[in-house]
Amino acid sequence: GCAGGGSTAGGGGDDKVITVGFAQTGSESGWRSANTESMKTAFSTENGFNLIFNAADNKPEAQIAAVRSFINQGVDAIVLAPIVTDGWDDVLKEAKDANIPVILEDRTVSASEDLYASWVGLDFKKEGETAGKWVAENFGKTPTNLVVLEGTTGSSAATDRATGFNDAIAGTDITLLDSQTGNFTRAEGKTVMEGFLQKYGSQINLLFAHNDDMGLGALDAIKAAGLTPGTDIKIVTIDAVKDGMTALADGEFNYIVECNPLLGEKVAEVVKKVVAGESVDKQYIVEDQAFDQEQAKAALPDRKY
Ligand code: AHR
Repeated sequence: GCAGGGSTAGGGGDDKVITVGFAQTGSESGWRSANTESMKTAFSTENGFNLIFNAADNKPEAQIAAVRSFINQGVDAIVLAPIVTDGWDDVLKEAKDANIPVILEDRTVSASEDLYASWVGLDFKKEGETAGKWVAENFGKTPTNLVVLEGTTGSSAATDRATGFNDAIAGTDITLLDSQTGNFTRAEGKTVMEGFLQKYGSQINLLFAHNDDMGLGALDAIKAAGLTPGTDIKIVTIDAVKDGMTALADGEFNYIVECNPLLGEKVAEVVKKVVAGESVDKQYIVEDQAFDQEQAKAALPDRKY
């Protein structure tokens, strides 16, 4: 908060405005909107920041160009929510050569750890594993046909969720019919699910969507095919945004693993420390919960995003 009257010119660097370039993925999902809002709130003028915001519409080349432009503008720090893991080595080296620290937010990169200062994010593999364990416990002992809507190909969120989920369902009676990307959006979740339904019809018993939005898009396709979501086709998703939690409480989804989008405060704290030359951890993992239908009903009234 504002301590009031605090404009005394101190000797420390504390009152210098920190200019931060934030390279966001885009605006593909409800999760992303909540994350952008959390970041903008934390990196506000009142908190001592000058935020330069860029959303790359999920185009990796555009995101690399945005980071390069932050370097050219001579920002104090760069925060990056990388769309995909690969392709970052060159521009991260350029940032390092220009003495501009990079802090990763949300997703990770495959580049060497010494090319960034810290990462604030989620354990995507564990999210996938939690979803897979629930599926294995509830459907693993009866023949069950599964389809998967994957997130953006090459993103750590999609890759690690798939790994965690597949590990957890290995050795069960669950058969994977098909798995395709829906790029984390409602529109593509719907289109890809329509394709699955045309191909496999009522053979499909279970859908795992890498995020709520694709699951919500799939609901339309399932209903249009004359099937009842949550009953004819069981649905498990990740994120737990309000629309997803509403579908879960209404019985249209069956289980959601949370992915916490409220990372702004932690990222701002880490950026301040890095810019001040203080030491920080290489990674900060934010905890996630999981919800079944009853737990969603209880949690929904207080859900903030
Ligand atoms: O990286 C986190 C993922 O990105 C969220 O699960 C998804 O909704 C978002 O677009």
